Order: sequence, then C-alpha cells, then structure tokens
Amino acid sequence: MTKRIILGLESSCDETAAAVVADGREVLSSVVASQVQVHEKYGGVVPELAARAHIENLLPVIRGAMAEGEVGPDDLDALAVAYCPGLVPALLIAVTAAKTLAWAWGKPLIGINHIHSHLQSVMLEHEADCFPAAALVVLGGHTSIYSCQSPLELEMLGRTLDDAAGEAFDKVATILKLPYPGGPSIEKLAKQGDPQAIPFPRTYLDKDSLDFSFSGIKTAVLYHCRGQNMLGEDRVRQMSEQEKADIAASFQAAVIEVLVKKALRAADQVSARTILVGGGVAANSALREELQRRCDEKGLQLWVAAKKYCTDNAAMVAGLAYHKLLAGMIDDLTLEPLAIQS
Ligand code: KG4
Ligand code: ZN
Repeated sequence: MTKRIILGLESSCDETAAAVVADGREVLSSVVASQVQVHEKYGGVVPELAARAHIENLLPVIRGAMAEGEVGPDDLDALAVAYCPGLVPALLIAVTAAKTLAWAWGKPLIGINHIHSHLQSVMLEHEADCFPAAALVVLGGHTSIYSCQSPLELEMLGRTLDDAAGEAFDKVATILKLPYPGGPSIEKLAKQGDPQAIPFPRTYLDKDSLDFSFSGIKTAVLYHCRGQNMLGEDRVRQMSEQEKADIAASFQAAVIEVLVKKALRAADQVSARTILVGGGVAANSALREELQRRCDEKGLQLWVAAKKYCTDNAAMVAGLAYHKLLAGMIDDLTLEPLAIQS
C-alpha cells in the first residue's frame, strides 16, 4: 500500500517548524528553527517579534524539511498546520503558508490543535496499542489531562485554572535569575539541590479534581526570595549557589508530585492501561523518572514523548494529521488561527 505523506507546519509560539511524516509515524524529516536568542533578553516570548522571525524562518525551514525528507510537492498527500491555541500573530504565519501551498499545489489542508498534537508526539516513537489511556500534556501555555480512546477521541478531564506547569518553571527561573527558557535551567540547577529543603505547597484542589493550579507555588517561591509582604529586598543576588539549587530542587519536586499524582488519579478514573505524557515539561528527567517509578508500582504502561519531540516541532502536527486525513477531517481555505482551543 502506498504511504500517506504529509508536510506539517508549526509556528504557534517561538519555534518555526516543518516536518515530513509518512503514515503518521515515520518521520522523514523534522526541522525546527528556535527563536531563543530573539526572546531571551525579554525573559519571555514577544508575539510581534515571534511573528517576524517566523516570516524569516518559515520558507527555509519548509525547503529544508522537504529536501531532507526527499519529497517534492507531488509526493504530498496533504498539508497540515497547527492553527490553535497559541499566539495569533505567530500562528498566522504558518496558517497562511499552509493555506497558500495547499491551494497552489492542490492538496487537502488539515488544521491541527497544537495541544492534541503534543500528545501525538508520543506516538511517533511507540507502537499503537495503548488505549484506553490517560494523557498528561504539560506545556508552557497549558497543562491538561485527557481520557484517550484513540488519536482522535480525546476528552478533557482537567486543566490548569491559572499558570501552566511550564509557565511556573519559566517564572521561577526568572525569580532565581536563571537563563531563559526556564525549564531546562531549573532542571540543571535542581540536580545540585535538596528537593526536601523547602516545603513548597502542593495544590490538589478537590479530592477527585484533575484540574491544576500552579500560581500558588510560584508566589510561594517569590515570597521565599523577597519576604512575605514583598517589601523585603530581593535576596537572590546574595544567595549561595546551594541555596538557589535547594529552591530549584524543592520547587521542581513539588510540581512533579502534583503532576504525577493527578496523572495516576486520571488513569484510575478512566481505567487506563497506559499513561501518555507529552509537552515541553515532559523533557524533564526527574518527572520522567518519577512517572516511571509510580507506573511500575501500579503496573501501568507509560509512554513519554522522546525528548526531541517534547518541545514544539512539526512532526507531531503531521503525525496527528494522518489520522484526520484517514477520517476525512479536511479543512477549507477559511481556516483561521485561534488563540484558544476550538
Ligand atoms: O511544549 P512547549 O513548547 O510549550 C507550549 O507549547 O506551550 O514547552 C515549552 C515549555 C517551557 O515552559 C519550558 O520552560 C518547558 O517547556 N521545559 C521544561 C524543560 N524543557 C522545557 N520544563 C521543565 N524541565 C525541562 N527540562
Ligand atoms: Zn507546544
């Protein structure tokens, strides 16, 4: 049987990405242009600057992905693009490119939910038999838990009520004056620290709740560094490396404990055989190890996205589009970027 080959595009935040994927799983190429240098001096992503960098990067990235994947327009079965949720000025660039290429090349256009595609990144390196599954998506912009019966059957069971897990990592890194992006910086520093040094709060909400709240722990770290009334001087510059490492390790341990407990709670509630985990924060080794330890204890299968597919990429976009293509879920040229999930 001939393979279905899809070109995926992604520009929802600060990575410009294109990838060519065959049959939803075989990654023929995955090219990502990072904008870390554009945004690091601002300590976060500036939407207008992201959009401008996407305009500069997108065509070279598409050409690179097609050359590396050894495909031309005629080989493609569809064009896929992440169109929600995300920064609209940033999303607009890949959405416009995908619509233009789909029209010019006469190919079907498939709009992809960025959060759902992060879950599909897990499938890129695993065989298919994982359902029913509970899925944890831990991103910079969102933290959600889903019940999954198939790649296209996702039911949201819980989400963050305020800050996402990745956002908390980024903000705590800013408080500790660590380099952007914050997640990898916190993870590195936490390796030297004591995770039990400071009892930062764990927020579980109601007994059975699968929602998250990470703004409390971020504020607790801020108060720890600046004093309860925020009038105290910022002590971070005077802190020893060990003191900062203890804060990073204690913060990381608290976030991980909540994420792991909720993932297991969800697996229990939906009688899952597998826990799926994707998103930028899933690159965190301490989180991966703790999930594995708890899943082994419970006899649950754990599938975590490969580290190279945890942060934004287009292979996951093309991967999910394969399932939508088979199901006939095609979009037309009225597809528009959306800040929130549709
Ligand atoms: O999935 P992603 O690109 O975000 C969204 O789509 O919103 O992931 C980016 C997030 C950032 O918040 C970053 O700090 C975090 O993932 N991150 C990490 C690690 N690597 C990236 N957080 C914790 N530990 C890491 N190693
Ligand atoms: Zn993402």
